[in-house]
Amino acid sequence: MTPVWFMRQAGRSLPEYRALREAGGTMLEACLDPATASEITLQPVRRHGVDAAVFFSDIVVPLRLVGVEVEIAAGRGPVFPEPVQTAADVARLVRIDPSLVEERGESIVDAVQRTTAMLAEEGERRGEALPLIGFAGAPFTLAAYLVEGGPSKDHLGARSLIHSDPSAWHDLTHWLAEVTGRFLALQVRAGASAAQLFDSWAGALAPADYRRAVLPASAAALEPVRALTVGGDRAVPLIHFGVGTGEILADMASIGVDALGVDYRVPLDAAAARVGSHLTLQGNLDPALLFAPTEVRRAAVHETLAAGLAARAHVFNLGHGVPKDTDPDVLTDLVRTVHAWRAS
Ligand code: CP3
Repeated sequence: MTPVWFMRQAGRSLPEYRALREAGGTMLEACLDPATASEITLQPVRRHGVDAAVFFSDIVVPLRLVGVEVEIAAGRGPVFPEPVQTAADVARLVRIDPSLVEERGESIVDAVQRTTAMLAEEGERRGEALPLIGFAGAPFTLAAYLVEGGPSKDHLGARSLIHSDPSAWHDLTHWLAEVTGRFLALQVRAGASAAQLFDSWAGALAPADYRRAVLPASAAALEPVRALTVGGDRAVPLIHFGVGTGEILADMASIGVDALGVDYRVPLDAAAARVGSHLTLQGNLDPALLFAPTEVRRAAVHETLAAGLAARAHVFNLGHGVPKDTDPDVLTDLVRTVHAWRAS
């Protein structure tokens, strides 16, 4: 049984998403509108038949909730008009009370509740339970945007701050851990049945810096969800993912997670050898294969599935998010290919 879902399965690859977004409003407004967010979350589930929904939101949503000015620029990503770069900037930021996430998070709770109700209906039609995966950004990846003021190629701003002002870096990342951890816990308490921590840009770090200056804050971000259960008894499964993280996979696993997302640069059997066979692996078809001829793509899917057998369990996914120009029919075919393999 190999389940399949995709990072960014909701979004611009789907005409029904583009139609809904054209009706108006910014990306963050869509995230904070429960009817819109729940509908967008369901779109890829209905269309592709994936085995899980990913809550439609963004890693910067909790920062917006606590009052940090942020927008998502189309085609670019999160932009902060007031970057956090000096010790004084950090001191100002960390005075914001992280409990504002819960205080102002009503729309998130509402959106998750609507989504799980819609998934229950959809699951009934299909005859299988459809989990909702909640997620949050890890402190380093959030800091990579916050310090730079927007997307950057090598996250030099954040990586420099680690060394130029370790104390400000510590305060910043531990405050981010509280804010993002509360956002993740809010989703789980509202009904999400798995939680993924995205440290998308952690692969930009030297392993020693990752271990010393980043990993403790990521572990802290997961603290508020560790105690939470799904259905009253089972601990909520935790997933950890980053891009280009081959050198730090074992470290990423060490903070106590159930599953590790692997990007396409490390074959899943090699990843299992690095982290041990007690973990579930998630991944990792190169999104470039979505633009390859059908037979080439299907062969690559079979190769990924075979490599995934080395892990305790395998959740099929791409090695990173769905590119916006992806033909949605190709994604549907990919889901069918994975399902047919598990049936054979
Ligand atoms: O279906 C899903 O996977 C859920 C949706 C999701 C979004 N953002 C919606 C989104 C998820 C899981 C995220 C997380 C996220 N956001 C991450 C971590 C995951 C990863 O891909 O590494 C990161 C680094 C961000 C920051 C961010 N937000 C980026 C880099 C972008 C893309 C910028 C662009 O336009 O190319 C966004 C915007 C964003 N988040 C979109 C979506 C659907 C596109 C918004 C639009 O419609 O214009």
